[in-house]
Amino acid sequence: MTTLIVTNDFPPRQGGIETFVHAMATRLPRNDVVVYTSDEPGAARYDATLPFPVVRDRARTLLPTRRVTRTALGLAREHGADRVWFGAAAPLAAMAPELRRGGIRRMVATTHGHEIWWARTPGADRLLRRVGDHVDVVTYLGAYTRARIAPALGPRARLERLVPGVDPAAFRTGEEDADGARLVRERHRLTGRRIILCVSRLVRRKGQDVLIEAMPAVLREVPDAVLVVVGQGPDAGRLRRLAARHAPGRVVFTGGLDHAGTAAYYAAADVFAMPCRTRKAGLEAEGLGIVFLEAAASGLPVVAGDSGGAPDTVLDGVTGSVVDGRSPAAVAEALTAVLTSPEERRRRGEAGRGWAATHWSWDTSAHHLDTLLDPDRPLQRNRTAGSAVALPASPRAPGDAARRPSKSG
Ligand code: GDD
Repeated sequence: MTTLIVTNDFPPRQGGIETFVHAMATRLPRNDVVVYTSDEPGAARYDATLPFPVVRDRARTLLPTRRVTRTALGLAREHGADRVWFGAAAPLAAMAPELRRGGIRRMVATTHGHEIWWARTPGADRLLRRVGDHVDVVTYLGAYTRARIAPALGPRARLERLVPGVDPAAFRTGEEDADGARLVRERHRLTGRRIILCVSRLVRRKGQDVLIEAMPAVLREVPDAVLVVVGQGPDAGRLRRLAARHAPGRVVFTGGLDHAGTAAYYAAADVFAMPCRTRKAGLEAEGLGIVFLEAAASGLPVVAGDSGGAPDTVLDGVTGSVVDGRSPAAVAEALTAVLTSPEERRRRGEAGRGWAATHWSWDTSAHHLDTLLDPDRPLQRNRTAGSAVALPASPRAPGDAARRPSKSG
């Protein structure tokens, strides 16, 4: 049966939720999905490359209005979809009661870092309560986000962990992708330099500013070091000014790269760093950080800020280090430690590759999501209150979940 994916976050726009939704959409069995999403420049050309239909609303941001809800239901009927995955729970999963009345049998809503803001903002939290009351499963990234989002979802919400992953075929080491790495170094005239890489939207909480402020101390120990900042965003101008002040000529801004363009940058780098930090009294935090997984899969040691769920992506002291994302001195120390020791860099990079391959698999997550989305698999609470597991479908009563799918447990 077809899955309708309702989401505001979908490529060609770049970001973690977009990467997550794309990874699931392309891995659900038989690509039996239809995506309903918002419009953006370049969308038609991108959508034409996908093996499933993508329906773009005229709006640049979808909200759970009557019109959008009606369109979602119409698409579900047209494509024979009896299950819906909300790529981000807030705000679109608020349409769940209407979809249920319209015949949708199973609904799963995925939370990321941004639902922390919704959960802790008076008024906005009511929307999450509606989501928790009406969808079948709400997924979360890890203990940090769960602790902050679950209270707003209310006691009837069924929670299940669903983590991002990384595609081991898409990210390679500098040895495996020697040509890609060489081209990146030549393009930016970095041959022979030691490269610190950061890949991320340019927004304050990601910590590119602290990374730039750490550069003078790094350069004292590693005079040939250079920082490569990949990504675009509202903080670009301020970051360029900071770079001119703290490390003139030592910071390269690539701007945003296209969908497949980042892998060669990871292959070219010596260490990955994103000293993310929690802002606005906890309203803005890192949900997890797919970039740390991409870096590990590329055989890079990782320096991660201690914000939100980011520490979940690093085995501290083994695959990289977790640092105070507000401290240029701590960031510089962590970077210098790996840049001055090729042996340590290699050891951490290899450990990271193994960690990414064994613990962070998109295929495993897609299989898990597919199971949760199956309306013929009854959901039952497991021993942790508020958690759900999808049981094997019962051959005797396949329609049970259809009649009583949502909040009985
Ligand atoms: N091609 C390209 N070009 N990709 C980019 C660029 C760019 O310029 N900038 C960022 N990306 C990609 C990264 O490669 C990665 O796949 C994704 O965008 C960023 O993901 P995250 O590191 O997870 O950060 P986020 O803040 O955008 O994502 C949010 O949701 C994630 C999924 O739940 C945060 O809450 C994350 O913590 C969370 O992991």
